Amino acid sequence: MKKIDFKNLDKVYKELFISAEKAMNNSYSPYSNFSIGAALLTKNGEKFLGANIENASYGLTVCAERSAIFSAISQGQKNFKALAVISNGKVYSPCGACRQVLFEIYKAFGHDFKVFFTSKDKTQVFVYFVSELLPNAFKGSDLN
Ligand code: THU
Repeated sequence: MKKIDFKNLDKVYKELFISAEKAMNNSYSPYSNFSIGAALLTKNGEKFLGANIENASYGLTVCAERSAIFSAISQGQKNFKALAVISNGKVYSPCGACRQVLFEIYKAFGHDFKVFFTSKDKTQVFVYFVSELLPNAFKGSDLN
């Protein structure tokens, strides 16, 4: 993981965060008030957005990262360049469920990519490669 200043990000990632912020504004998070938006960029330049969507039955909540990933894959995308995630609170690092889902698509589709996290004030950015997010992950070949 690397920490960098938002202002030093490449233009393409700054723009990706603008999309993530739009998704954050669509977050449905009345229980935690922690709004998150994610924007997943494909290698051909398309963007797929996701927000966290909560439920009165708390365990049914879906994170922003998985919303974006499932949207992209549902629309036939497989080649990803980057994922940008923004919250209305502090910079955070992703939950275990999202790490597992990211790991699966990295293994299945064979492309590592960067994941960027920032906060609403867009000062600091945490940057990870998907391949480093879940050491010793459970994987499909464990089922053989
Ligand atoms: N959340 C995400 O969207 N992504 C994460 O990686 C961590 C947690 C959401 C789920 C819930 O709506 C809120 O943040 C508080 O847990």
